[in-house]
Amino acid sequence: MIKDKILKALNKQINEELYSSYAYLAMSAHFKSESLDGFAHWYRLQSEEEYGHAMKILDYINDRHGKVTLMKIDPPKATWKAPVDIFKETFDQEVSVSKSINGIVELSLAEKDYATNNFMQWFVSEQVEEESTALKLLDRLKLIGDNKNGLIMLDRELGMRASAS
Ligand code: FEO
Repeated sequence: MIKDKILKALNKQINEELYSSYAYLAMSAHFKSESLDGFAHWYRLQSEEEYGHAMKILDYINDRHGKVTLMKIDPPKATWKAPVDIFKETFDQEVSVSKSINGIVELSLAEKDYATNNFMQWFVSEQVEEESTALKLLDRLKLIGDNKNGLIMLDRELGMRASAS
């Protein structure tokens, strides 16, 4: 059986992932309202990916015969001044998620729960990629600055993102 401390941390992580999903969905809707359909598409897929992360943890808890407890999801922001602010917030969110994932890894070692430690390694690797992608896009947005052509070009590029499934 899974220990209470680990179960609590995993249930909290489900909430973190669902919040990310919710926040990226809000960002997608915002970009759509600004007619930046490529950004909207990219964030919609990102939202779906985060939902998938939450489901992965939920399935793991069930596999370990633990009790899934869903918590309230905080409402995300709905409007932003500029695209660069959204990417800054995305990067900060990913850094925050990495921190909580690392916390679960540390806890799993302290509690000698090697199965959870092994399970969490997938998330550790995923966060390296997620932080890197968010930072790269933030850097590009900073380079683009007020250049509308640059923004349209990036919008087109992000619109070509293929679904993971
Ligand atoms: Fe699932 Fe981007 O954290």
